[in-house]
Order: sequence, then structure tokens, then C-alpha cells
Amino acid sequence: EKKKIVFSAIKPSGEITLGNYLGALKNWIGLQDEYECFYCIADLHAITVRQEPKDLRRRVLEILAIYIAAGLNHEKSTLFVQSHVPAHSEASWLLTCTANMGELSRMTQYKDKTAKLKENTSISAGLFNYPVLMAADILIYNTNLVPVGVDQKQHVELARDIAQRFNSSYSDTFVLPEAKVSESAAKIMDLQDPTKKMSKSDDNENSYILLLDPPAVIRRKISRAVTDSVGVVNYTDEQPGVKNLINIVCAIQGIKPEAVVAQFEGKGYKDFKEFVAEVIIGELEPVQIKVKELLENKEALAAIYREGAQKASRVATRTLRKMQKKIGL
Ligand code: ADP
Ligand code: NA
Repeated sequence: EKKKIVFSAIKPSGEITLGNYLGALKNWIGLQDEYECFYCIADLHAITVRQEPKDLRRRVLEILAIYIAAGLNHEKSTLFVQSHVPAHSEASWLLTCTANMGELSRMTQYKDKTAKLKENTSISAGLFNYPVLMAADILIYNTNLVPVGVDQKQHVELARDIAQRFNSSYSDTFVLPEAKVSESAAKIMDLQDPTKKMSKSDDNENSYILLLDPPAVIRRKISRAVTDSVGVVNYTDEQPGVKNLINIVCAIQGIKPEAVVAQFEGKGYKDFKEFVAEVIIGELEPVQIKVKELLENKEALAAIYREGAQKASRVATRTLRKMQKKIGL
């Protein structure tokens, strides 16, 4: 029986955060045996906002090292860089002509991102079209499942709508993809403002934990994480800061919130935060050590993404040809 297909990606627009790791990457590892997985480094998505060229190049390689260090296996899964497979851009244009302005204007991530920009800042058309490129990413691999954080769920649903529209306007072409959101790590929140998601594009570095943050930095950031004046470790929406720290522990240890709450009965936030920091360090430190080792041999990493691009291209180009033919190109 043919394995179902998984596609997911992280964009190298900043350093990878604990949110990316718990909401996405960590969940990808366990899918590798059951599914045929395509894991991409979405550099074309990163450039919707201007990037420093040398940082972008460095991060692409670093993220590949992180993928492998975290447990992705390039012999089981296809690990590749989006811009190395031209079919993403080509399919994206074809789907741009299938998508409509209205549905793209309704994407909450676009609305949030543009709302944050100052009034006279010009917004790239790429930022508006981003979900169409993401639809292309997903659809050209005949993807069944897209493991993402909850912030990307709406984009996966849009990919599905676009696929459906293409299928009914021409003929059956695309598999209809579904988002797969992990429960405890659906949305890791900002450490300074636990009402918004932790994001690599935040200005305040105390807001996020980076996957490559050294232990001392992790301890400091967690000790400064915003909590509340209740002073009791509860799992409730009224204590969003504490709730977020509990979610982080649960996502790492695979346990239920009640287990964490029980463990800290009668104890204060200082003990709790020290525990949270050690749990994070225990999870990230081995990954960091491997990343460092892998980055010592950049040529070996480049060989992995070149091979990945070849494998990905074979599948993607087949779908692209199908699309072109149906459209009349
Ligand atoms: P970012 O929003 O940090 O720029 P990306 O857009 O590259 O991240 O998203 C990569 C993956 O990480 C997506 O699956 C996204 O849903 C997930 N993700 C990003 N931030 C978080 C978060 N704070 N909590 C959970 N998952 C997240
Ligand atoms: Na995101």
C-alpha cells in the first residue's frame, strides 16, 4: 500500500524558536516511518520581508543541521530547500490565477502582520501572496497531511479550497490536504506577552527562546517570563503565562497539564520556573551539540539538500506538468 504523504516547512526568516520546534519540527520526527515525508526549508517564504543575504544563506544551512540534529533522517525523508525546486514558484503562479483577492485578504496572518507595520511602510505583494505559494508547496507533492502549529491552519484550509477550485474548474488534479495540529504545542506563546504567539520576528529577545540559546540564556529568559500575582501553579486561561510554561513542559515530556500542576502543589513560581528551564535545556542541549558537529562539515550538509532537491523535483515536476497540461500551457 502506498504511504500517505506529509509536507511541512519552516521559513529561515530568523533563528528557529522553541515555538517552531515544539509546534512543528518535534512532531515531524515521529511521522517518518508511517508517511512519505517532505520537509522543506522555505527560503522563498522568508523573502516576503527583506533578508540580509548572508544571514539567509547561513540560516538555510543551519536549519538543515537543526532538522537532522532534531531527528529527521535524510534517508527516510526528503529534506530540501524550496528555491532549489523551481516547480514551487511555477506552480505558485498557476495557483495565483486560481486564488482570489477576497480570500487572500481574509487571511488573519496577513492582517496581523500588516496591522503591525507603520502606516507608510510599503507591504510587499509577496506577503499578500504568501498563502498561494504555501498552497503550491503543499499541493505539488500530493500531500495528505500538513503538520503545523495552529497559526498555519487557516493557510492549509486555503490550500484545500484552492485545490478544490482547481479540481472542479479543470478536472481532478490535486489531493485535498489536511492540517495536523499537535495538541499541547498548538501555540507556544510569547514569554513577555502570553496573549500572542512566540515568534522569531519579535523585537524583544526575552519574548522567545531560540533553539540554539545556551543554557544560561534559557534560564534567564524563563526566569523573566511574565506570570501573574496568583502565585499558584494552575492550568487556566486566567493565568496565561503559567499556562504557557506548563504547555511547554507537556509538549517536551508528553505528559498532561494536571501532572505538572500536581508536581508543584504548594510551591511557588521560582521553583516552577527553574524546573521549566531545566526541562527545556534537557531537551535542547543534545540537539545543540549535534547541530554544532553537523555545521563543521558544510559540504556534507549541502550534499544532503542537493539530493533532497532531486527527489523533491521528481514529484513536484510531475504535478506541475499535469497542471500545465490541464490549463492549456
Ligand atoms: P514563525 O511564525 O516563527 O516565522 P514559520 O512561519 O516559519 O514560523 O512556521 C514554521 C512552523 O512553526 C509552522 O508549522 C508554524 O505553525 C509553527 N510555529 C511557529 N510559531 C509557533 C508557535 N509559537 N507555537 C507553535 N507553533 C509555531
Ligand atoms: Na508562522
